[in-house]
Amino acid sequence: MTIARHRQLTSDPATHRAADEIAAIYNKAGKDYLAYADGDPARLFSFDGPHGYADQQIWHLLQRELARLRASGKSSIRLLDAGCGPGTWLRRLVVHALELGFTDIKARGFDLAVSQVHQAQALARRLSEASGIHLRFEVADLTERLPEADASVDVALCLYSVLSHIPAERLSDVAREIARVTSGYFVATVRSIGSTPSAFAYPVENIRHLQLRSDRNECELELSDGTRNAFNFRLFSASQLRDCFTPHFLIEEVRGLDVFHTRFSLDRRWNPPELLQDSGVLDELALLEEACATKAAFIDRATHILLGARNGGAQGNPTPSGGLSAGDGCHCRKRCR
Ligand SMILES: C[S@@+](CC[C@H](N)C(=O)[O-])C[C@H]1O[C@@H](n2cnc3c(N)ncnc32)[C@H](O)[C@@H]1O
Repeated sequence: MTIARHRQLTSDPATHRAADEIAAIYNKAGKDYLAYADGDPARLFSFDGPHGYADQQIWHLLQRELARLRASGKSSIRLLDAGCGPGTWLRRLVVHALELGFTDIKARGFDLAVSQVHQAQALARRLSEASGIHLRFEVADLTERLPEADASVDVALCLYSVLSHIPAERLSDVAREIARVTSGYFVATVRSIGSTPSAFAYPVENIRHLQLRSDRNECELELSDGTRNAFNFRLFSASQLRDCFTPHFLIEEVRGLDVFHTRFSLDRRWNPPELLQDSGVLDELALLEEACATKAAFIDRATHILLGARNGGAQGNPTPSGGLSAGDGCHCRKRCR
């Protein structure tokens, strides 16, 4: 499969080289990325991976938006996932849109990494055969022009560091392009400047060498199997993330996602099993997260920063933040805020 090159925003060879380096990491990771990020692909709503807490928070926001659109009388919905990886988030959205009674669901996910797109296509095969669903995954580059028409997307996603891989000088073009196609809600997450190290597509135990060169927005990575990569990556402060999208969207939400859970996570190779099962601590951590998620001092030290933003074309009035309760069709097995 070749990268679908829509009308290009750039013909800069350095940008294309950077894209190839990023695709190489996620292509090599293949199914390991899916296992690392999402756990069992058949259990779409279990949210029990290493980012389970952050996933749940993102999911609450997305559920709330889908419910809002449906309550406004819409029965058709357009979804876009930029940098979709193995497509888990788009499958979640499509499944839930069906449950809510949307009868015309058009969803497109795209990613630089061919192996991720192939996984997404395979995992979505049955779902995409359901009546009323048009779900596709493609290889494409977010730094290029999107094929979507102006204001044609109700909900657009750019989750888990896709934006961190975009060359800094291309970010404002990318933000403008996402805003061009999005009539409704946009959700992004990025790694914060105060986050703990990540091996991107693997558990951190797999890293032999890691160095983020912030002055060059470049990360050097050597995995335990000796594979070396150097690729574009940057961390964001909350204000940097906000500044990217303020010219194009009404920013509804900027919050730290997972200030405590990752730092308190235990290691099966080291900690005794009884400590791993202490759900009381998880409940306490969730309360702490709620208390600190919007405090400036903590947002930039969270594992991720979440941005929820709206374009002018959305129908109806947005539900106030936190408006979804556990009874609103929530899929989580864990504590819901
Ligand atoms: C950490 S993964 C996140 C995947 C998915 N959004 C998720 O939440 O599981 C980052 C993804 O961004 C993709 N990516 C990075 N730069 C991209 C670009 N310019 N265009 C499209 N995808 C990109 C990578 O290939 C990778 O699959």
